Amino acid sequence: MERLDKRLAGTGKWSRKEARELVRAGRVSVEGVPCCAPERKVDGAALVLVDGVPIPPSEPVYLMLHKPAGVVSSTSEPGERTVLDLLGEAYQNIGLFPAGRLDKDAEGLLLLTNDGPLAHRLLAPKSHVDKVYYVEVDGELDGEDVEAVRAGVTLGDGTACLPGELEPLPGGRAAYVTIREGKYHQVKRMLASQGKPVTYLKRVRFGPLVLDEGLAKGDWRPLNDRELEVVFSQ
Ligand code: URA
Repeated sequence: MERLDKRLAGTGKWSRKEARELVRAGRVSVEGVPCCAPERKVDGAALVLVDGVPIPPSEPVYLMLHKPAGVVSSTSEPGERTVLDLLGEAYQNIGLFPAGRLDKDAEGLLLLTNDGPLAHRLLAPKSHVDKVYYVEVDGELDGEDVEAVRAGVTLGDGTACLPGELEPLPGGRAAYVTIREGKYHQVKRMLASQGKPVTYLKRVRFGPLVLDEGLAKGDWRPLNDRELEVVFSQ
């Protein structure tokens, strides 16, 4: 946490004195609320606007997004709505990117950050970070599928997957799948190779982060202190 006037001066655009004057003149808001107190303590990732224009955060930003179907997990793609389009204007030009991808038709937990080293650590194949998906399939998942996933499925093109976990839910038409790598369309291809194509896919966990079911599809929020702690201890 740092003083608001210091945070503004830290951008190099204003001296500390000018920053104090800006705040006192009512031209600054913090997290959407006007603030006239230069001594107010703000988080380095807090959204600070001067005359309605965001200043870059002084610390990296970590957001949890509940990705809806129909948007792509990239920062820009012609003709497509991206996950960045779901964020407010203040989050457009601060280097945010999704740590890992979800297919366009998939839903669920996506971590958006501008902390490259952290994302790299979470995504590095050798980190084997668990990803858990809720899936629905065409067919009935059974003990053979559970065993196949536990042993490591070989995909249609001969690619071998690391052992994962499949926990069918009663009736076998839905399940939780855990994988520790991130091959292209991996879960869909694993279950397709078992003859049980995926009809719905939602990521519910990414490493130590659990999707906040209080977030409606398309909504997002900054990670809370507890989540930051577990992400950094990963
Ligand atoms: N596996 C898939 O098939 N799709 C995803 O989006 C993520 C994992």
